[in-house]
Amino acid sequence: MQPMTGAPIFARIAGTGSYLPERIVTNDDLAKTIDTSDEWIAARTGIRQRHVAAEGECTSDLALEAAKRALDAAGMSADEIELIIVGTTTPDVIFPSTATIVQSKLGVAGCPAFDVNAACSGFIYALTVADKFIRSGSVRNALVIGAETLTRMLDWTDRTTAVLFGDGAGAVVLKADSETGILSTHMHADGSKGDLLHNPVGVSKGFLPGEDRAGVVVKMAGNEVFKHAVKALDSVVEEALEANGIDRSEIDWLIPHQANLRIIEATAKRLHMPMDHVVVTVDKHGNTSSGSVPLALDEAVRSGRVARGQLLLLEAFGGGFTWGSALLRY
Ligand code: COA
Repeated sequence: MQPMTGAPIFARIAGTGSYLPERIVTNDDLAKTIDTSDEWIAARTGIRQRHVAAEGECTSDLALEAAKRALDAAGMSADEIELIIVGTTTPDVIFPSTATIVQSKLGVAGCPAFDVNAACSGFIYALTVADKFIRSGSVRNALVIGAETLTRMLDWTDRTTAVLFGDGAGAVVLKADSETGILSTHMHADGSKGDLLHNPVGVSKGFLPGEDRAGVVVKMAGNEVFKHAVKALDSVVEEALEANGIDRSEIDWLIPHQANLRIIEATAKRLHMPMDHVVVTVDKHGNTSSGSVPLALDEAVRSGRVARGQLLLLEAFGGGFTWGSALLRY
């Protein structure tokens, strides 16, 4: 990785891609086995259905398909990629990293590849890291993926969490651009709130005696998470506007993390943004954690809603807690 010469350098999205597993599980399907209803889930979260990975289908498989589509959209081949980062909290295995597995499945080798674990903020964190690499001139392009198989660590009998999550992946190819691209990124974390949304299964911490796969589940204090998410997202969107000296009316699209429609609406309200300028996929995908922002972005691009030159504000909040934003000229 030799530094390039000349400035300024922006990281611009050259192509987007996404992938969802084939199987769809609706709210009505869930209501057959747990005490819930489509009405309750839709009213409290906006979710109607989610995709669930098939047996044997791993996070790297979803990531690979999303990556291939993003490369295709960018008109690039995998051997041209100089950096691969995967945001995920559900890696195929503890190591090697999902990014190196994706690299191998793409049939290439040599460039650095690593994962970023920031729970649902994983894609924003990964995008931020890749942006820094490109801005510094260390690489000319990067493949950034958010991919998850969250349903693998759900307790399907717990109605407070099982209804919320889904599987999926999204990807972008970033390329150095002398004119525009990512304008700012901001990342935050508060580790003191870790217990409010976590999967406590350990490696160095050890496994609890007698623990098996049934113990590998997401645990969440939903109400608390909700309140913290709304507050953190309010502050992070204000931070992005201030850092760039732009008025909220200049943003063409808000592309938020898709956890709960009520959280999305609260952020949109803060920005005085009509909902027809907010990309919403939570109804069809549920919360796909790191996958959600790039999935929503790709859907908005492919449906023709997001156009070149528009100003996009991406944001996310997740376990840790972690949260962050990216403001970019598409
Ligand atoms: N179906 C039916 N009833 C349910 C239910 C379900 N799936 N889940 C919970 N309930 C019940 C509760 O048991 C409770 O019953 P009670 O009043 O008899 O005790 C009632 O519904 C209200 O529960 P509450 O937890 O107060 O609901 P809520 O309005 O806070 O909604 C969440 C719950 C989880 C949807 C909401 O808190 C949330 O979205 N939190 C943020 C989660 C999130 O985004 N996490 C990821 C961040 S990246």
